[in-house]
Amino acid sequence: MIRRSILLPGLSLALALCVAIVLWRLAPGFGAAGPERAEVGGPFLLTDQNGHARSDRDFRGRWMLVYFGYTYCPDVCPATLEEIADALRRLGTKSRRVVPVFITLDPDRDHAATLRKYLSAFGPEFVGLTGTNAQIASVAQAYRVYFAKRVLPSGTYSVDHASTIYLMTPAGTFASTLDDQEGAVQLEKDLGSRL
Ligand code: NI
Repeated sequence: MIRRSILLPGLSLALALCVAIVLWRLAPGFGAAGPERAEVGGPFLLTDQNGHARSDRDFRGRWMLVYFGYTYCPDVCPATLEEIADALRRLGTKSRRVVPVFITLDPDRDHAATLRKYLSAFGPEFVGLTGTNAQIASVAQAYRVYFAKRVLPSGTYSVDHASTIYLMTPAGTFASTLDDQEGAVQLEKDLGSRL
């Protein structure tokens, strides 16, 4: 009787431990790329092209395609935005689940009105975001986006920047990066397979 009274709690404890391990392994995120996956993206509070305050929470329930750049960008930004617009057109009705978000890395020149005019060329679905230098630095850091001002001989400046498209889930977590060089057809395929 003494042995049995020790054995039963011991077995119960072992069983509870097994259940705990199984639940932990089944938990969402197990086997994901680990910390770096969780570290891309995060909360932001910025101003959209219509002058309204927008936070990351406003986009919950829809996929976000986040791209950083600036309106003075001579080639890469407009090409990528056109590629995104084209891919979303190809997606058809599925594209309603996706919000393309363009975040400026040049808030000194890209005010709300500048973004409004610029993005109207790519489509009404685009959300443009600007903010103070501190707000932009913060969101760029959250997404691990490199950018740096380069002063030109003319006295103006350009902004060197990474050109990566980030796909964020409807829950606001990082899903994947998408290749900005692959073209609209492939982008639509990659996007379609993930939605
Ligand atoms: Ni650019």
